Parts: sequence; C-alpha cells; structure tokens
Amino acid sequence: MSAVRVADGIFWVGAVDWNVRNFHGYTYTTHRGTTYNAYLILDEKNVLVDTVYKPFGEEMMGRIREVIDPSRIDFIIANHVETDHSGAIGYVARLAPKVQVLCTQRGKEGLQKHYYKDWNFRVVKTGDELKLGNRTLQFLEAPMLHWPDSMFTYVKEEALLLPNDAFGQHLATTERFTDEVDEGILMEEAAKYFANILTPFSDLIIKKIEEVQKLGIPIKTIGPSHGLIWRKNPEKIIGSYLRWSKGEAAERVIIAYDTMWGSTEKMANAILEGIKASGVEGRLYKLSVSDRSDVIAQVLEAKGILVGSSTINRDMLPTVVPFIEDLKGLRPKNKLGATFGSFGWGGQTMRSLEEKLKQAGVEVVQPPLEVKWVPNPEEIQKCFEFGKKFGEAVKG
Ligand code: FEO
Repeated sequence: MSAVRVADGIFWVGAVDWNVRNFHGYTYTTHRGTTYNAYLILDEKNVLVDTVYKPFGEEMMGRIREVIDPSRIDFIIANHVETDHSGAIGYVARLAPKVQVLCTQRGKEGLQKHYYKDWNFRVVKTGDELKLGNRTLQFLEAPMLHWPDSMFTYVKEEALLLPNDAFGQHLATTERFTDEVDEGILMEEAAKYFANILTPFSDLIIKKIEEVQKLGIPIKTIGPSHGLIWRKNPEKIIGSYLRWSKGEAAERVIIAYDTMWGSTEKMANAILEGIKASGVEGRLYKLSVSDRSDVIAQVLEAKGILVGSSTINRDMLPTVVPFIEDLKGLRPKNKLGATFGSFGWGGQTMRSLEEKLKQAGVEVVQPPLEVKWVPNPEEIQKCFEFGKKFGEAVKG
C-alpha cells in the first residue's frame, strides 16, 4: 500500500496493523485490527504529524520515502506521547538530526521520560501557529483527551483537523477514507472506541467541541490517528461525539450477567421477557462468553444496565468483576440500573454489586432481586415483573 494523498501536498504515510487483537493492556479487543496514522505535509518546510507504533516504523518510512527524502523533514508534530503514535519518532530523528519535535510542555516531559533522547524540542500552546510557506499549522491543547499531553493540529488552508486519538476507530482496511467503507461497521467501531477509551472524558469532549465551534474554524476533513479519515460529512462524527458525551441513549436495556449452575441465567431470561413486555428492547450478554469491551460498547447507547451474578465466596463471580470494574472506571453518563442474582446461603453479593454500580455513576432505580437456589415458577414471575418494571423506568 502506498502513501495516500489526503489533499494537495498532504499524504497519509501511516501503517496498517491487521493483526493486533488487544489494546491498552488487554482491556480493549480490536477484532478488526487498527491503523496508526501519520500525515506528511510538504511545503517550504516539511512536516510529519505523528508517527506510528515502533514495530511499524519501517513501513512508515517506506511510505515517506515514496514522497520525500526523510532527511528533508523539518518538523515532527507529536500530538500525543502514547507509544502507538510516538514510537517511530526515532526513525525520522536519526535521518534528520536537526528535526524539531513540536509538542505541548507535558508532551515534551512525556517523550523525554519514554525515550531518553536529546531531541530538539519546541513547546507549543493553544493558539500558536507554525508557518510552513503556503500553509499554516495551528495548535490546540487538548489535555486529558485522552492523556495530559494531548493536542490537536489544524491545517488552516485545508480546514483539516488532525486530532490524534479523537474521532478514531480501530479498523484496519485497504481504504483510507470513511466514505469508502461500510458505514455500519465504521460507526460500530467508532462507538466502541468512544465507549472504551473516551467515556470518562465526556465533559471535556463537550467543552473542547464547543471551544472549537466558538473559534469558528471550519472543519472540512478530520484525520484521526486510528482508522479512516473523515473527508465527507465530518459533522456526523462530531455530532455522534456530542451525543455520546451527553449520555444520550436509546430506550434499550443491556443485561450483563454470569451464572454458576444456571439459576441466575434463568432469572436473566425471565427479566429479558419482562423488558420486552414493557415495550423496550433488551440485549443479553453472558460475561463468561462475551467480549467485555464489546459489552461496554453496547452500554454506550443503552439507557438501562442490569448486572446479574451468582454468589461465590460471599461475592460476585470472578467473570463479573472486570466488567463492573471497567464500568466503575468509565462512569458512563445517564444510566439507570439494578442488580439480580441467585445465592445458596448468605446474600452479600447484591450489596457489593449494587455498590459498585453506584460507584460507576449508575442511578439504581429498584432494589436488587435475589433468589435462593433455583427459581420456582413464582420467582420466575417475579423476575418477569422486575424486568417489566425496569423497562418501564427506562421508558419513563
Ligand atoms: Fe492511540 Fe492514546 O494512543
């Protein structure tokens, strides 16, 4: 695959990682691989915006060489320290020893603490500009989107926003633009990316989008650091980010549960029937056989979340723990929730499960539903009613 023209004199020179299946320390499964996007801008001064994960450094260099001798690169913009974007800075710095590395103050500190190299750093702040000749780059700090060092780079003359991790998707393809791929898959991956990485920063995202809108800068194209480039209708992903950040969701309930000998599963199925009877859509995920980050993605666009577990060793099943801990870390907005499960003796599980759900910022709208041992027909009916009542709360 060659370098790809994004605009006159601007090229995608990143790398496609078809085989990565786990990201961020096995917290996020990338079923469809990913890309690491780097952008080369040719002008009187030549600029590389971000690089790639180090194992893909040669792949990036090959694409750069198709366009320009890498020793002619004057500036590297490091929008983000994380190694999937800064890992190959050294490949360019070795060939272009005078290259200046532009980043935020925290970016400089982070890069120094990652690579221990005496690169020629230049710290930039929001509003700073870099004149390249015919083009001007503008910088916008974006702390905690999603690291303290993060920033966006804007190519004024092309109305091209290069926001690094924001607006990305983990999606490896031969295509480079969002309008060239299946929209359903694209938005599924964009939503999963937001749900698993950006949810905790929802308030900052709203503020940052409002800040950009107040600046009145037009955005024709968004080139994220993962996945495909939004060259048509970038408003679609901006609108989705605003909706997700505000916690807007469908009248839908996600049931995430696990079961030891099938009793909690019987409860989950009866609850699901009750949800359906309320006129609300329900989706059921058994955590021992479901991918956790896929279930988190489902939670993003659902108003309700029910978590169920059998009891073992006076607490929830170990397969439920990472899911509830992820929820605690991500704190999705505007969710209603409740808990359920079966037990044999001692019923402390519901207390700890409900407590964790509350710590995740979920509004618990009804008491836990517990069943001793195997549910009888009356208890199954109670599960149905529990689901119906919860569905009605989600509708209300
Ligand atoms: Fe894609 Fe935060 O690195």
